[in-house]
Amino acid sequence: MKQLSKRIQRVEPSPTLAISARAKAMKAEGIDIISFGAGEPDFDTPEAVREAAKRAIDEGKTRYTPAPGIAELRDAVAKDYERRQRSVEAHEVIITVGGKQALYNATQVLFDPGDEVIVPAPYWVSYPAQLHLAGATPKIVTTGVDDAYKMSPEKLDEALADSDVQGLILCSPSNPTGATYSVEELRALGEVLSNYRDVAVLYDAMYDRLCYDQAVAPDLVATVPELANRVITFNGFSKTYAMTGWRLGYAIGAAEVIAAMATLQSQSTSNATSFAQYGALEALKLDDEIIDERRDAFEQRRDLIVSGLRAIDGVSCPSPSGAFYVFPDFSEFVGEGKDFADDLKLTEYLLTEAEVAVVPGSAFGSPGGLRLAYAMDESTIAEGIERITAAMEALK
Ligand SMILES: Cc1ncc(COP(=O)(O)O)c(C=O)c1O
Repeated sequence: MKQLSKRIQRVEPSPTLAISARAKAMKAEGIDIISFGAGEPDFDTPEAVREAAKRAIDEGKTRYTPAPGIAELRDAVAKDYERRQRSVEAHEVIITVGGKQALYNATQVLFDPGDEVIVPAPYWVSYPAQLHLAGATPKIVTTGVDDAYKMSPEKLDEALADSDVQGLILCSPSNPTGATYSVEELRALGEVLSNYRDVAVLYDAMYDRLCYDQAVAPDLVATVPELANRVITFNGFSKTYAMTGWRLGYAIGAAEVIAAMATLQSQSTSNATSFAQYGALEALKLDDEIIDERRDAFEQRRDLIVSGLRAIDGVSCPSPSGAFYVFPDFSEFVGEGKDFADDLKLTEYLLTEAEVAVVPGSAFGSPGGLRLAYAMDESTIAEGIERITAAMEALK
């Protein structure tokens, strides 16, 4: 058989999807698994959105669309950015098959072999994989509990001093930590970036409406307008509107970059699914109340899970300010001479002994941490935390 390409040999399958699949398989065998693995809301897609997509099918909106998306949706996305105090034009928007494809298109059109791209850890699992697929090299910069899992201006400056660096990926609110950059923090990073004019910034705002102390997380370009021509902003419908299976996201950026991404898309997926785009159009018309209610539910769950994890001896856990993930530090238990040689062994133990699925921090470039997604009802969270607590107590 022909050997697989070197490109794909450098890429691992998504560990988070693998863990969710394993938990699902155990459930199917009748084991009562509680899974904190999956990164998707437990809510349904709002009814008005479902109805709009059904209507679009019935009205025959079932053909190819323009590669960068239907004009109405590009326009609606541009207008939706007014809530982030940012002026966006429709031709600066591309609609993609999930936010994941938006990131994929961007890494493909921006980076070449030899380029280095700064990725703060803990990072979303797809960033290094997509950079490898572009032939670029991730330059991992570690952050921890002490810096609230955020990149400091000093660390950024130090990483940027390397002349091979052509890009930076920032995620706020973050998957996997929920950490969110404030306006002041973004300004400070912007100041550093102003000294490196050729560096592209990929700003992943996929969870910006799931932010607990504000209606929407600060937008990088609204905060530092001088960066407008080199920031690509990523967002989508999966998380805010509970539309993970619809596969619909978007990117916003300089017209030239967006046009290049559309060219790539025209030769790969052609366009995002036609009727899904009509559903998304309806999502952007929804009352804010629907999103706010869901966010409030996530906030209560966040408080429950954080207090439960903090009560476990030896565990520290920053309180996330957005998204629906928490990233407690279990490094007291992991490492040479400790209870578990590595965090994968710890997650195996929790899966078999506590029947709880969590993702090891090493999957996100931060060994010793764990990621728990809390997109589930409060009683399941409480039961899951009880099981983890008992399993950790049993080690004493
Ligand atoms: C940080 C982050 N960015 C982007 C995505 C992509 O989401 P989707 O492709 O479902 O739009 C995800 C999904 O897990 C994510 O967590």
